[in-house]
Amino acid sequence: MKILRTKEAVRLFLSNLPNNQISIGLVPTMGALHKGHLDLVKKARKNSDLVIVSIFVNPTQFNNPEDFAKYPQTLDKDVELLKESKVDCLFLPELEEIYPSKPRLSFKFEGLDDVLEGEFRPGHFSGVGIIVSKLLNIVKPHKAYFGQKDLQQVAIIRQLVADLSMDVEIITLPTIREESGLALSSRNMRLSEMDKVRALILIQSLNKAKEELLSGKNWLSIRDKISMDFAHENIDLEYLELVHTYTMEKLDAVAPQVPCSVCIAAYVSGVRLIDNVSVIEA
Ligand code: PAJ
Repeated sequence: MKILRTKEAVRLFLSNLPNNQISIGLVPTMGALHKGHLDLVKKARKNSDLVIVSIFVNPTQFNNPEDFAKYPQTLDKDVELLKESKVDCLFLPELEEIYPSKPRLSFKFEGLDDVLEGEFRPGHFSGVGIIVSKLLNIVKPHKAYFGQKDLQQVAIIRQLVADLSMDVEIITLPTIREESGLALSSRNMRLSEMDKVRALILIQSLNKAKEELLSGKNWLSIRDKISMDFAHENIDLEYLELVHTYTMEKLDAVAPQVPCSVCIAAYVSGVRLIDNVSVIEA
């Protein structure tokens, strides 16, 4: 596996490939890799001739400096996992390579970024928009892979690509979970074994909400009951929303043929976790 640290190294590498014959798949990550990331890599390996994974902990998408400072970094292990997954290239830029100066550009994803993560992490999706645009411009992949674990991120990236007429296909894959149901996340590394058990309240609440919505129960009363469960467990629930899966519009009921998902964010021992389940598929 080649480790490329600069845009120029990527450019040179790509310019040496046989023209127009090679399909390139990109999996952007912030490292601290787990089976969720590796599932994206596996799919990319299957679909593309050349697989490039990027690892870059992008400061512009962190609204909370402490979250950025504490973001897990496990580079040696990541490199091993990527080699085992038969990745061709790791793009591993330093901060200055990506941000030689502070970007003046910012993104506003009208209607998509004023709820959920966008509401509680101001500026987050502008930072995501900037880094994803940069990575797509540097690597110029045919396909780029993202997880539904970050449902709103997927909606935003699809909009970004459409609005800027970027020539890339966005592929999304389902959330990979521990056997317990806990969604894999790099931030889980900051949880104790005990916290991981407490964190199960997220997926349990999502599953319960889904079941009750489908049995016709009123959304607001479902949400109130779950909020009380969190208060009882002393876990800080940031949001619990029923939204349209693609437009992110907040809903207060399910309707046939309207794809919707329940999304949650909560702090378990100071670690911010998010998850979602689809209630009605497209
Ligand atoms: P990161 O959190 O490292 O996630 C990289 C990719 O892995 C994202 O597309 C994310 O949705 C996916 N992913 C994370 N956990 C997953 C799980 N349990 N199952 C399936 N996929 C999962 O998301 C980011 O990084 C950044 O915002 C990034 C897109 C790299 C831009 O900086």
